[in-house]
Amino acid sequence: MTEGTQLIRGLEGVVAAETKLCDLDGKNGRLAYCGYDIDDLARRATFEEVAYLLWQGELPNKSELAKFSAELIAARRIPGELIQAFALMPKQADPMRALQAAVAVLGMHDPDARDNSHAANRRKAARLTSQMATAVCAHHRVRSGHEPVEPSSDLPHAANFLYMLTGQKPTDVTARAFDACLTLYAEHELNASTFTTRCITSTNSDMHSAVAGGVGALKGPLHGGAGEAVMRTLMEIGEVANVDAFTEKALVDKRRFMGMGHRVYKAGDPRAAILKGMAEEACRQSGQFKWYEMAVKLHARINEAKKLIPNVDFYSAPLFYSLGIPVDLFTPVIAAGRIAGWTANIVEQFDDNRLIRPRGDYIGPSRRTFKTVDKR
Ligand SMILES: CC(C)(COP(=O)(O)OP(=O)(O)OC[C@H]1O[C@@H](n2cnc3c(N)ncnc32)[C@H](O)[C@@H]1OP(=O)(O)O)[C@@H](O)C(=O)NCCC(=O)NCCS
Repeated sequence: MTEGTQLIRGLEGVVAAETKLCDLDGKNGRLAYCGYDIDDLARRATFEEVAYLLWQGELPNKSELAKFSAELIAARRIPGELIQAFALMPKQADPMRALQAAVAVLGMHDPDARDNSHAANRRKAARLTSQMATAVCAHHRVRSGHEPVEPSSDLPHAANFLYMLTGQKPTDVTARAFDACLTLYAEHELNASTFTTRCITSTNSDMHSAVAGGVGALKGPLHGGAGEAVMRTLMEIGEVANVDAFTEKALVDKRRFMGMGHRVYKAGDPRAAILKGMAEEACRQSGQFKWYEMAVKLHARINEAKKLIPNVDFYSAPLFYSLGIPVDLFTPVIAAGRIAGWTANIVEQFDDNRLIRPRGDYIGPSRRTFKTVDKR
């Protein structure tokens, strides 16, 4: 190979790691975590079971799950200094920025901060998963002028998240839908944010630094930020009757349709199909069916015009909205699910590490003579 001449834009199709975590079959639109189909996991397992699966490689039995759930519950509290830091942040700050800062602060307080062993990383993964949920909710409460809600010591992870966000215990149906969303977002192979966490890990940095980087990558609208952008698009459209006119104009303007298209899935994203059904039910139950109808119509029009498929972020937007999640918390919620996969990838990378260091293909001027500033 000639040095620096193998350019693959966007690293499309490049295999950059071996993984036992995620089996993504883009051609056939199939996805499995550690061998279990995503449909089974989303419908029949809890987020706790899925996190355990990603970290241990096996689903837990009853007593393993009870012990693991207790570990997650015990890790829910965040340092008071972090809550003080939230109070000092600008009220208008993007919650993803606050989350990125929160992860860095949690790293400063973590008892295993300097330990990159497998056992310490496994402990940090559990702590970060619980604490990130608490941090997202506490930051939202503080910026809204409310006291943070103390984490519950008995609710499951998903129900506790909604409880900490609103101060109200969610219904079983709402908690179940939210739990399935966390599972659907938990892991997705070498997406941009997970790849970021692996790059940072590959320098032998540490889990919190890697996750803070992952949060930054997830924030972008071509990645996790697409969900929020979908909801803003639906709000811009306003009514089902406006979808056709909106789509025609957007096509003329060559607008990028958020939540549509995918680098790997070309036939369909299996997560979107599950989320579509959940969005239909949740929008109907919350009396906000128009968002679902609008999304279905928009999906059909874009698909007719551009053959694009909806990705995970398309139907999660009306679903999250009807579950009462504030629009600018959609991406932090995705991070609260993806943390399970990020940390599993970080552990996998640490356990079999080689520095990730690709090349750039230099296309600037050829070598030239340097002149000092007074001669230029
Ligand atoms: C996800 C995404 C970044 C993948 O993109 P990619 O594999 O890099 O594909 P490209 O951006 O190179 O697009 C390839 C072609 O499809 C078009 N395309 C892809 N996604 C599109 C979209 N959402 N809206 C309009 N056109 C789109 C591009 O304009 C391009 O057309 P061209 O070849 O005529 O220029 C892209 O589909 C996208 O931007 N989607 C919207 C953001 C989103 O939902 N992100 C969440 C992903 S889970």
